[in-house]
Amino acid sequence: MAGLLIGSLYRKYQGLLHEYATAPDCIIRKDAELTVRRIRYKKQALTDRKGKDRMHSIYLIGFMGAGKSAVGRELQRSFGMKTVEMDALIEEREQMSISEIFRVKGEAYFRERETELLGETGSEEGLAISCGGGAALREENVAVMKHHGYVVYLETRPETVYERVKNSHSRPLLEGNMNIPYITSLIQKRRPFYEKAADITVRTDGQSPEEICREIMKEIRKTEGTPGESI
Ligand code: S3P
Repeated sequence: MAGLLIGSLYRKYQGLLHEYATAPDCIIRKDAELTVRRIRYKKQALTDRKGKDRMHSIYLIGFMGAGKSAVGRELQRSFGMKTVEMDALIEEREQMSISEIFRVKGEAYFRERETELLGETGSEEGLAISCGGGAALREENVAVMKHHGYVVYLETRPETVYERVKNSHSRPLLEGNMNIPYITSLIQKRRPFYEKAADITVRTDGQSPEEICREIMKEIRKTEGTPGESI
């Protein structure tokens, strides 16, 4: 029994050494498990369908309240990916909340800032980017996302969206429209854009961010034709 345990620990240790050896530029963290996951993502991203030698980013798209930010944080926690929360970054740059930007400078100005920021995301590899709910509606934005990474559509039912956002006042498009029929009609209008942009679609209703992340990674592996390894 003890022999078996020691044997399995030794194999795990050898496995870790192998992972480190095959990814020399990784950041070796104290948390070995996280490091291995990070390297797995990296390895898998290196065998990429676009034939480029780089670690792809993951662009999370979908309607307001789909859980893009929570899933971004989970990708950071589980896979050590650096996250970019587009709305938060725009707020920081503009020194204004999204609602204020819409009110003072207008929606068109905000959309320009979104496009500008997306353009910058190509300068780094392996980012988890939580896009604002309207980012995938512009063709040029989608072109940038597709060029630099995987576009993951988090699909969510209107009822779930409503439950998640009903007490929030940070989304100008829903101010005065905070009801299920309005949310349903806006999702219907946007769905074709989300679907067209998506490399991967994950249903989020009733799933935790951790479960969603696992599904995203499973789907990425399928896309890249490297089945078998479990994360
Ligand atoms: C918007 C979604 C919001 C924010 C802005 C506009 C949209 O982001 O970018 O209020 O057009 O759907 P979240 O999807 O993160 O709420």
